[in-house]
Amino acid sequence: MKLRIVEDYEALSFVAAAIVADEIERQGPLVLLPATGSTPIGAYQQLAQRHAARELDSSQITLVQLDEYVDIAPDDRRSLFGWMKRLLIDPLKIPSNCVLPLDGYQADLALSCHRYDQSVRASGGLNLAILGLGPNGHLGFNEPPAGPSAPTRVVQLSPASIESNARYWGSRSLVPTRALTAGMDIILSAQKILLLVSGSHKAEVLRRTLAGKMTDELPASYLRLAPDVTVIADRPAWPWGDGGAHLVDDIAISW
Ligand code: PGA
Repeated sequence: MKLRIVEDYEALSFVAAAIVADEIERQGPLVLLPATGSTPIGAYQQLAQRHAARELDSSQITLVQLDEYVDIAPDDRRSLFGWMKRLLIDPLKIPSNCVLPLDGYQADLALSCHRYDQSVRASGGLNLAILGLGPNGHLGFNEPPAGPSAPTRVVQLSPASIESNARYWGSRSLVPTRALTAGMDIILSAQKILLLVSGSHKAEVLRRTLAGKMTDELPASYLRLAPDVTVIADRPAWPWGDGGAHLVDDIAISW
């Protein structure tokens, strides 16, 4: 695991976008899972700018949706699909046959999860996953408790996730209570993972992700089992400087 500590959110977005752009260039066909949430927005905007300036070729990207609310139609602005469409699918001009959705607007949700797993498998699996860190240590909507082999499934959102998503819905009572999430199994098997963490409110959960016990109560702690993880944290999210050198294979501070 690598830890890159950068000055602020702007630097985090720049570094993350540069790594993703490198992977796109290096890999050719790239199966990319992009988290929603507020943290990666800056990086996605940078990728969109590079694409608009013809500096980024998106023609070989397949996008894999990470999570979705139950009973919210994909064309609803508040759906996570809609979110991914506004920030990535439209700006990068990804054709619909190169997007693998996780559809929560289906009567048979188990079938929806099964189809999703099948298409991810048929795509050859994830080359790159861009993840955010939930305030409760969730990855996607793998709410605690979730072990490393938790499958793609329907989950009940935790009070912490409902609280943190209330800003997108206007109030806590409007946030859907159920969601579909890519399984921990799919996420952890990504060839490469970028975990983006910004803000002092994430410092403690990031410290426990890297340093605490690996436990189902903190699903992100299982990132330590994944083959290639780079954590990019801004200074507020990792206020300990190089005080984590013993926790990771490689630590770099730039500001
Ligand atoms: P955030 O969400 O990027 O909006 O902080 C992260 C998450 O809950 O997974």
